[in-house]
Amino acid sequence: MLALLDWLHAMGADAAVGHTAQDWLARGDEAPGAGFSWPKRGHDVASPPGAAARPSGASPPIRPQVEMRSPARADTGRAEAVRPRAATPLGASEAETGARRIARSVTSLEGLEAALRDFDGCGLKSTATKLCFYRGAAKADLMIIGEAPGRDEDLAGKPFVGRAGQLLDKMLAAIGLSEAEVHITNIVYWRPPGNRTPTPQEALACRPFLERQIELVAPKVLVAVGGSAAKEVLGAAEGIMRLRGKWREVQIGDRTVPAIATLHPAYLLRTPAAKQLAWIDLLQIKSKL
Ligand code: URA
Repeated sequence: MLALLDWLHAMGADAAVGHTAQDWLARGDEAPGAGFSWPKRGHDVASPPGAAARPSGASPPIRPQVEMRSPARADTGRAEAVRPRAATPLGASEAETGARRIARSVTSLEGLEAALRDFDGCGLKSTATKLCFYRGAAKADLMIIGEAPGRDEDLAGKPFVGRAGQLLDKMLAAIGLSEAEVHITNIVYWRPPGNRTPTPQEALACRPFLERQIELVAPKVLVAVGGSAAKEVLGAAEGIMRLRGKWREVQIGDRTVPAIATLHPAYLLRTPAAKQLAWIDLLQIKSKL
């Protein structure tokens, strides 16, 4: 039994997500989540959002240039075990459209958080313990966007509170910024099982909420940390080493926001020599601010 647990842990299963054993093979190929329906609207609705995906006049949001793949079988299976009401049964575009309608209707960060708590269109919610919305200031000139919550974040319900987060705080302190002056979040709001990279579908389902969050925080500068966040925020396909350290403009609603990518603090913990590159990026961010 211990050997089996060791093996499961080595495969990335580092948390129990249900109390009863499941025979996953018995499920056959049936997609989980039949009968899913979108939550009703109603979080500080400014005006009836209607069926439109975005209000007229608003610029289309940037699109991630990523390949769409089916969600991993293991994830959907776990999702079903924990939350019978189902999550992630939808195709990416249906999830995104629903999310966009909900996100458009909220007018405050509190409303956005409440909407996320009700949102079942991202399968990560099923295996996560807590929603990780943001930490730091509600309004900030600098908004940091990471990849996904990890184990510590999942337990605390806040982004970047583990070792990587502590290094991120030190990096920000090095350019004179405290937690109270920045807004820190991720491209997905729930921990992926085993800390895997979020799938494009998961990022896409969360994206309308992230765009609305950026609109509500109204930062002067966006910083994407790590490769996944850089691709998602900058709408680019290159790797982080090519993307980092270069300013781009991203269109969020009717605003154009300068954005830059830098190395992920978790990578810097593993590769201290790369800190010199991160420092160059930090100085650029400081000077832009
Ligand atoms: N890594 C991230 O990208 N985000 C977190 O919140 C924690 C670790």
